[in-house]
Amino acid sequence: MPSAFQQSVIDEFRANAGKVGGPFAGSDLLLLTTTGARTGRPHTTPLGHVRDGDRLLVVGSNLGAPHHPDWYHNLLARPTVQVELGEQQFQTLAVPAEGSTHDELFARVVAEAPGYAEYQAATGRVLPVVVLHLPDPQAPAPAITSLAGKLTEVHTWLRGQLAQVHAETEAHFAARAAQRGAGAPPPPGLGLQIRQRCLAFCQALEFHHTSEDGHVFPVMEGYHPHLRPVFDRLREEHRSIAAVQSALAALLAGVAIADPHRFRTELTQMTEQLTAHLDYEEAEILPLLADVPWPPASR
Ligand SMILES: [Fe+2]
Ligand SMILES: [Fe+2]
Repeated sequence: MPSAFQQSVIDEFRANAGKVGGPFAGSDLLLLTTTGARTGRPHTTPLGHVRDGDRLLVVGSNLGAPHHPDWYHNLLARPTVQVELGEQQFQTLAVPAEGSTHDELFARVVAEAPGYAEYQAATGRVLPVVVLHLPDPQAPAPAITSLAGKLTEVHTWLRGQLAQVHAETEAHFAARAAQRGAGAPPPPGLGLQIRQRCLAFCQALEFHHTSEDGHVFPVMEGYHPHLRPVFDRLREEHRSIAAVQSALAALLAGVAIADPHRFRTELTQMTEQLTAHLDYEEAEILPLLADVPWPPASR
């Protein structure tokens, strides 16, 4: 729960397109909504930010307190966050910066907002810097008018995220090999960028399959009872993909991906199974959803 003061800042922000007076007059604020790591509930907090090209940097300063703020723990557990910035509102992936990138970005923040150096001096922990990418202004959302279009959109997003995790993982292994060749020690772990993206992917996939099993398939099966074997097969595939997903999620439980080789093996298995599943599902059920309007008509 935000404090009464925080809530008043949030209310003022939303009522005035992101402008807040009082102690925050003239400062760059955003509202970050994370999902509670333990509660699963949304948690909104006003934060100062520094803009760096197409990304926003926020710092887990907690005003120099000895522990990280709750929102930081939340985004490690559930990396997809909601950002309100001025009148804009978007979902994005939250990735804490690491190593020399962290130091570089923290220096960039301090150059614009020197108060963060004081917070850093007040505590023994390293203040995390979290990178939030702004949405691509070149990519207008396509108009979706049918449930088939909606399903395709979700599948396209899932395929894209998985391909990106792959590309980043392979780039990591290539960098390891190059460093080993040069006699330098390989970089540790797999990095938070990969972890955060993969975890967000796993959570979105779980949500998607749960809603297919719980809502979409039962309703469709009512209309097309002769397709029972198709839905049974899709449900079975969900179960076997969930097993791979649990293995992946277990590897992502800590902040660092401890076993990069096992991660890569599980990721390859996930990709094979999921790609076959999405292909089959699209071939069998997309034609049935083409005439179902989306968004659903409100009653
Ligand atoms: Fe599915
Ligand atoms: Fe699906």
